Amino acid sequence: MNTALHPDYDLLEWRRRIPLVAGGTLIPMNNCSQAPQADVTRAAAEQYLESWNTSGMDWDAWLEQVQGAKAEFAKLIGAGTEEIAVFSSVSEATSAVASAIDFGGARRTVVVTEAEFPTVGHVWLAQERRGACVAWAPVADGRIAPAAYEPLIDTGTAIVSACHGYYLNGFTQELAPLAEMAHARGALLYVDAYQTLGTWPVDVKALGVDFLVSGNLKYLMGIPGIAFLYVRPEVVARLEPTVTGWFGRANPFTATVKELDWSPTASRFDAGTPPVMNAYVARAGMQIINSIGVAKIRAWHERLARRLIEGGRSRGLVLHGTDDVRRKTASTAFVVADAHGVEAAMRTRGVIASARGPVLRLAPHFYSTMDDVDTALDALAAVTQRA
Ligand SMILES: Cc1ncc(COP(=O)(O)O)c(C=O)c1O
Repeated sequence: MNTALHPDYDLLEWRRRIPLVAGGTLIPMNNCSQAPQADVTRAAAEQYLESWNTSGMDWDAWLEQVQGAKAEFAKLIGAGTEEIAVFSSVSEATSAVASAIDFGGARRTVVVTEAEFPTVGHVWLAQERRGACVAWAPVADGRIAPAAYEPLIDTGTAIVSACHGYYLNGFTQELAPLAEMAHARGALLYVDAYQTLGTWPVDVKALGVDFLVSGNLKYLMGIPGIAFLYVRPEVVARLEPTVTGWFGRANPFTATVKELDWSPTASRFDAGTPPVMNAYVARAGMQIINSIGVAKIRAWHERLARRLIEGGRSRGLVLHGTDDVRRKTASTAFVVADAHGVEAAMRTRGVIASARGPVLRLAPHFYSTMDDVDTALDALAAVTQRA
C-alpha cells in the first residue's frame, strides 16, 4: 500500500459505513461545520427511540448513556469522566464558566482572542454588565502571534479565552505556553477546541488548561444539541456557577429546594436534565474517533492538507492563513467573492463545502480520499474562475 495515498487504518471500510460517502453522489468537505452520518450514529439515535418506545421511560439507561458520552469525551482529551460536564452548546458552557467568575474584585479583565467563534466573544462581552472588561488579543495576517498575549495578561486578568483552532482559516495555536503564561500571572485559561477535537491529539493534563470545551457535530461525528466541558480538578472547588440546576448538585436525586450542595467534581457545571438522545449519538460518534485513534487521523489530515494547499496553489486559488500544515486544523480556507454563492454552486457539482465570511472552507476528515480533495478543488476552481 502506498502510505502517501492511504492512511494507517482501513479508510475504505469506513467509507462503506458512512451512507452519504458510500452513496457517492455527494462529497462531504464540510466537517468544520457538520460531519456526515455513520451507521453507528444512526443506530445510536434509533437505540434511544427504541428504548423510549418499548420501555416508556428508562432513566437509568438514559443517564448511563450520558455518563458514557462524558467518558468517551474524557478519553479523547486525556481526562477523567468526573472532570467533564455536559451542555447543549458551547455558548451555554461558556456562559456557565463565565458565571462562576467574580469580576467584582481586582481581576476584571478577560483576554479574548479575535479568532474566537463569535458566540464565545458574545458571552464574554455580556459579562461587562457584571464588571468584566474585555481585552482583545489581535489576529494579524490570519493568525495570533504568541507575543500578542504578553502586554494583555497581567495581575488584573481573571481569565484568558483562546480557541485551539481558528474557525475561519484553521490556524492553530500552542496551548501549553499560553497556559503557563496565564497561570504565572494568576489567570485561568479557557480553551474552545471545537475546531480541533477529533483531528488533533489533545492531552489536557499535559497542556495544563483550566477549561476545554467542544460541541459534537464537527470532527466528532455527532449532532447539534450537545457539548462537553473539561474543568481542571484543581480549580473546581472555588467555582460556583450561577448558571446551574439540579444536576449540578452532589446528588441530583436527593437535592432539596432550599439547599445548594455543590457537586465536588466538574458535574457542578451540569444544570438541568441532560440532552439524552444527543448523548447516544455523541457517544457513538466519539467512539469512531477513539477507535481509529486521533494520532492516525492527524497524520492523514496533514497529508490531505498538503494536497489542499498545493492543489489550491496550482489551480490559482488564494489561501487564507498559514500554509504550514503542522499549524493548521483539518480545514483549509480559500478567499472567494460571495462565499455562500460558491458553496451553493459547489453543491450542484457534488461537493459540500462550507462558506464563512470571506472564505470557502474545505474540511475533509478521516474517511476522505485524495480524490475527494482533487474533485473539491476542481469544483472550486471551476466555480470561481468562470470567465
Ligand atoms: C470554534 C467554534 N466554537 C463554537 C461554535 C458554536 O458553538 P455553539 O453553537 O455550540 O454554541 C462553533 C461553530 O459552530 C465553532 O466553530
